[in-house]
Amino acid sequence: MLDDIKEVLYDAQQIQDKIKELGDTLSRDFEGRNPLVICVLKGAFIFMADLVKNINIPLEIDFMAISSYGQSTKSSGIVKIIKDLDVPVEGRDVLIVEDIIDSGLTLSYLIDVLERRNSKSVTVVTLFDKPTRRTVDLEANYTGFSLPDEFVVGYGLDYAEKYRNLPFIGVLKPEVYSK
Ligand code: PRP
Ligand code: MN
Ligand code: MG
Repeated sequence: MLDDIKEVLYDAQQIQDKIKELGDTLSRDFEGRNPLVICVLKGAFIFMADLVKNINIPLEIDFMAISSYGQSTKSSGIVKIIKDLDVPVEGRDVLIVEDIIDSGLTLSYLIDVLERRNSKSVTVVTLFDKPTRRTVDLEANYTGFSLPDEFVVGYGLDYAEKYRNLPFIGVLKPEVYSK
């Protein structure tokens, strides 16, 4: 599995340091608001777990499974809800937790869904961002790292469902996905 990685961009410690910073900021900004923290499955599951351990105010969590990429390295442009939330978001301060924003299609769809359900506010935290890839105009409120336009895996991010368990974020060797 490690042979398939061309380069490590951020290692496990660098990621944890960044998440600590994000957690401190979010703890201040969401104080007294009992946010509903939504993990966008599957990619955000590791970030979600590490992030909420660094937020020291009352909050609730829920999960939503969304997919646009399937087995491809490119977004299909069609976003599907595979698993919906268990609780209503009406009147809630919602914090969406994403692993990465690429085209922005997944998030713009999700934000739209949550606003139509009359959430009080929708805020986005993403660990990674590829700002040069956007096809819709959208920025996260909180971003960990900006990445170059390369196919990255690890720390929750997959290629064809693999590599999510790598503890770092790295660039996949092109020969792995061009085979
Ligand atoms: C990936 C990633 C983001 C989304 C970003 O999810 O986890 O959710 O794509 O891309 P976008 O900004 O172009 O929409 P994916 O659809 O691969 O599902 P997964 O999280 O289950 O891997
Ligand atoms: Mn995802
Ligand atoms: Mg994926």
